[in-house]
Amino acid sequence: NEDLSLDDQIEILPYDRRWEFPRNRLKLGVQLGAGCFGRVVKAEAVGVKDAEENVQTVAVKMVRSQTNAAALEALVSELKILIHLGAHLNVVNLLGACTKTLIRELFVIVEYCRFGNLQSYLINHRNNFVNQVDKLGNLLIDAAIQEINTAAGMNRFYEYEPPVSFGVCQKDPDSNFYGMSVSTADLISWSFQIARGMDYLASKKVLHGDLAARNVLLADDGVAKVADFGMARKMYYEGNYQQTGQKLMPVKWMAIESLTDRIFSTQSDVWSYGVLLWEIFTLGKVPYPGLEGNTLVRQLEKGYRMEKPDFAPTCMGEIMSSCWKADPKERPSFSEIEEMISSQMESTV
Ligand code: ADE
Repeated sequence: NEDLSLDDQIEILPYDRRWEFPRNRLKLGVQLGAGCFGRVVKAEAVGVKDAEENVQTVAVKMVRSQTNAAALEALVSELKILIHLGAHLNVVNLLGACTKTLIRELFVIVEYCRFGNLQSYLINHRNNFVNQVDKLGNLLIDAAIQEINTAAGMNRFYEYEPPVSFGVCQKDPDSNFYGMSVSTADLISWSFQIARGMDYLASKKVLHGDLAARNVLLADDGVAKVADFGMARKMYYEGNYQQTGQKLMPVKWMAIESLTDRIFSTQSDVWSYGVLLWEIFTLGKVPYPGLEGNTLVRQLEKGYRMEKPDFAPTCMGEIMSSCWKADPKERPSFSEIEEMISSQMESTV
């Protein structure tokens, strides 16, 4: 594949020319993220949805090195997955692509998510977290919290409407978003929304393969979106991955069968979702503290699993455990997880 030009690669994919966005209508801005081969920059797009006067802030994924064929191929593959996926509220949606530039480069234009990735957001809000779970794992919904939830749209949560912000606003949210506190209700809402996004992916037969808090982005109104699906995961980040063979793998998020037999499925995504829940309810801790690589695999094979985090309600702890069943068939589906979370919320409020 290395000898194929970008045009050739695009040609053998079901790429729809309607996605093509003119390069000259994209004004690149600051860098939002970077990995080994790729980077994401903020940009202003003029006329994304046909209206010339329409200027929209977007995120543009691009390969850093114009000569790296593997990185380019990965981004082409991600573009293909995004086109296949179609739009869903809880997925970072495709807006367009620039494939016809003079130099050999590819830009993939996706929705801009103002609050960045969930992992950083959780870590940045550890100091203003509102815990609504007692020592026994019961949800504490006192009058004040109930008021906040009702005012902030907990009702809409049940109606499956696009969620609105659950943050307890301490300051003007636009002037300083770190002034927004995060509550247990937010954590549950994000958990629910990520399950919905993953249920959508599963319905489209797309494996994420790298579900983790770093790959969930937060948009306006408390909306959580699953990002970075497909092959691109192998290319774009270095941080949490461990070398196994030639590939960088997110070992601590991988299902036991992926680690031992390299089997990946929607049910291995469910395992990763369980680890993601653990990250959410520890406010962004690194999973399996003190355990690394081969030791971790041996421990998992012996049946070791992480405990319910203190900030997690009992029901979320039960979901985590069920996601980590050794037999993939015994794990719940994403739609069952959605059901478990929403029924829990109905019974407590
Ligand atoms: N970082 C990586 N992708 C992003 C996006 N789509 N929006 C905001 N920040 C990002």
